[in-house]
Amino acid sequence: MSIFLLFCVSVRVCTAVAFIACATIAGVFVRRAWEKFSKSPIVVNVETTNYPLYKLHFPAITICPANNVKKTVGEELLARHLNMTLDSNLQQNLLSLMSALSICQYPFYFRMQAHFKPIFDMLPLFSDFNVSRFMLQVLPKCSEVFESCFWLGKEVDCCDVFHLQRTEAGFCYSFNSLTSDDTWSCAAQDEFSQHAAQKEKDEYTKCQPRHNIASGTTTGFEVFLLHSNPENSLGAGQRDKNGFRVYLHHPTHFPEAGKGVFLPEQKGKAFRVEVTPSVTQSSAEVRALSIAQRQCLFPDEMRLQVFHTYTQQNCLMECRLHHVANFCGCHPYFFSAFTGKYMEKGF
Ligand SMILES: *[C@@H]1O[C@H](CO)[C@@H](O)[C@H](O)[C@H]1NC(C)=O
Ligand SMILES: *[C@@H]1O[C@H](CO)[C@@H](O)[C@H](O)[C@H]1NC(C)=O
Repeated sequence: MSIFLLFCVSVRVCTAVAFIACATIAGVFVRRAWEKFSKSPIVVNVETTNYPLYKLHFPAITICPANNVKKTVGEELLARHLNMTLDSNLQQNLLSLMSALSICQYPFYFRMQAHFKPIFDMLPLFSDFNVSRFMLQVLPKCSEVFESCFWLGKEVDCCDVFHLQRTEAGFCYSFNSLTSDDTWSCAAQDEFSQHAAQKEKDEYTKCQPRHNIASGTTTGFEVFLLHSNPENSLGAGQRDKNGFRVYLHHPTHFPEAGKGVFLPEQKGKAFRVEVTPSVTQSSAEVRALSIAQRQCLFPDEMRLQVFHTYTQQNCLMECRLHHVANFCGCHPYFFSAFTGKYMEKGF
């Protein structure tokens, strides 16, 4: 009898001890998981390393000629504006002015000052001068920049596929960009939800970024560039020596002015770019978290005034425009087509 009782008690004790031990260990794990969750509530994991190529947008390519102000054309236009005959003294002053306009590029705005200094007295004569129109008139034309273009091995007309691209480095030409002047009116794109509906359509629309169908060195886009006219060079007034600055970016983004690769003008030189894409998708649960917790915004959660699509980079660019507007009541010439209506409203 007493042995049975003892056994009974010891079973109960054992069960209780086991239960307490389990609960404690579980508690430790739950606490650790909770601490991890409150520190970083988002888990990033690799879903697949075999993402199909056709689902990805081909990158946009923006090409900016280093000589973005054709000297001879600029001299003529400026002399006509001033109603002065072009002598060597005026030529020198106009070179300073054109150099200042040429270097009007983020993040080098401060470099304009050195060029403006010697011609400070002249500037009031340009109070009603349309800089934006002037910079478009002196920009090398598409036919002066590109010789031939190939998309997926087939020759295409360069001036059909390259469009005027406004950037913080001035006016450039871009391929496959949804932020060019030609595609600016396209609705804001959501890359992944759009994709399903577009998949089966063969025909190419300008609002639909291109897709590559194969990988390798000879696929994708190929472009041959022309030599610039040495007469039109601003020499030391340019940011780069004659050549081109090339930017690769997502089709819905603007090129980042600080990030391009400079290609000096050289005969027979080829420049190849290999792109390694990585796609990050957020699940619906991420959206359920508060903005403070996830520390990022979805494109539809914020509306920008000037640029269509919310991206962190567009937001920063707009912030700079606001800052410039507050600082001097002006705005950089390259975004005048976008900022015009905000200036009127006291932007
Ligand atoms: C330009 O200058 C000439 C001579 O100085 C003058 O006759 C002419 O009216 C001026 N034109 C304009 C548009 O100011
Ligand atoms: C300046 O020129 C641009 C480009 O030609 C034009 O769109 C804009 O309306 C002009 N601005 C003014 C104030 O005339």
